[in-house]
Amino acid sequence: MKATYLNKTTKFNFKSAALGLLVFATTFTACKSSTDEDLIPADEQQTETVMSASDLNEVAEAGSFHLKNYTLKGVFDFPIGAAVVKERLEEPLYAATLKKDFNRLSSESNFKFKSTHPEKDKYTFAKADAIAKFAQENKMVLHGHCLIWAKDGTMPSWLLNYKGTSADFDKLLKDHITTVVSHFKGQVTSWDVVNEAIADNGTFKDNIWLRKLGEEYFFKAFKYAQQADPNVKLFYNDYGQEFGGKKMRKIMELVATAKQRGIKIDGMGFQMHTVVRIDVNKINTNLKLAADAGLLVHISEIDISVKYQKAKTFVLTDDLAMEQGNKFKAIVKGYMENVPKKQQWGITTWGVGDKDSFFNKGYKNSDHDYPLLFSKDYKAKRAYRGFIEAGLGR
Ligand code: XIL
Repeated sequence: MKATYLNKTTKFNFKSAALGLLVFATTFTACKSSTDEDLIPADEQQTETVMSASDLNEVAEAGSFHLKNYTLKGVFDFPIGAAVVKERLEEPLYAATLKKDFNRLSSESNFKFKSTHPEKDKYTFAKADAIAKFAQENKMVLHGHCLIWAKDGTMPSWLLNYKGTSADFDKLLKDHITTVVSHFKGQVTSWDVVNEAIADNGTFKDNIWLRKLGEEYFFKAFKYAQQADPNVKLFYNDYGQEFGGKKMRKIMELVATAKQRGIKIDGMGFQMHTVVRIDVNKINTNLKLAADAGLLVHISEIDISVKYQKAKTFVLTDDLAMEQGNKFKAIVKGYMENVPKKQQWGITTWGVGDKDSFFNKGYKNSDHDYPLLFSKDYKAKRAYRGFIEAGLGR
């Protein structure tokens, strides 16, 4: 039977009854046997107004939408990742959430050029290494994000101010990619080699590498990565190509050209920073387009913004939370249906709990958004439930 979330009537009654039943619920839960099944899907409940034991359990767990007996990493055949920040790995709740539900790590910033290569002749890997260690200790695979983010603001000032010939810049590109990829050989299983190189109109975005090496920098980056580690999977990563258009066309052209030239591009990362009201049909079409070209497909940075205003007082309503859960479910389901199993590189969320989201750290002046699977106190949200239900085929 196909399950959906509790419908509105149920939810209303559930909410109004919840407060009064909280004390009872706690007692009830304490008495339950250890053989409890996971929460019963909404449409398997008998009537709209009767609260099931599972509902009481939800109340007792104060709003967690975890499913007993299931974790994200246990349900899906492909890796479930989260982008992390080194410093946060020491926080118990953050670390525990990662260990319980995830089996891949990406990094928000610690693998980027500015972080690993802050001066011309100096590489700093301490933070990235700490992430690699956490991944290894917890049997997680590691995705490297990213070698070349094609935007000047993401490059260190020494590089932007460097005076040199094209050949000098070519050497810098090669040295950087070779050093970083070699350092993580055997630890990183896939790299975003080039990130965000193509504009919506299908042209290359301006940046230091384009100015110094022309469009060839794109192919050189993949070639150098391949030479440094022939076994690692190499990805082109971008946002917005899930809507198709000139951007997706250009990316597909670049992939085809690389293939003709014997330059390896194994996969495409769809960042998927998205919003609740997005239409999944277009997304599915473009996931399929990438898969049809033989590429591995990674949803590499997903989050779903629910925010339509900047007000600091903005709160996540139940309706929006449910809409967000349904959207996560639809996107994950679309991914599973449109990308053949062998090409499913996995799905990575950009952060863990809502407070980690870059949407809440001043990005585009945003704040008070709720884009991720876990709340700010790391309770599984309806977003989590939607995600996992896609994996359970509900
Ligand atoms: C963001 C990080 O989340 C921020 O913490 C950092 O300040 C800027 O970069 N697309 C990408 C990611 O490819 O690298 C970006 O990460 C988010 C958008």
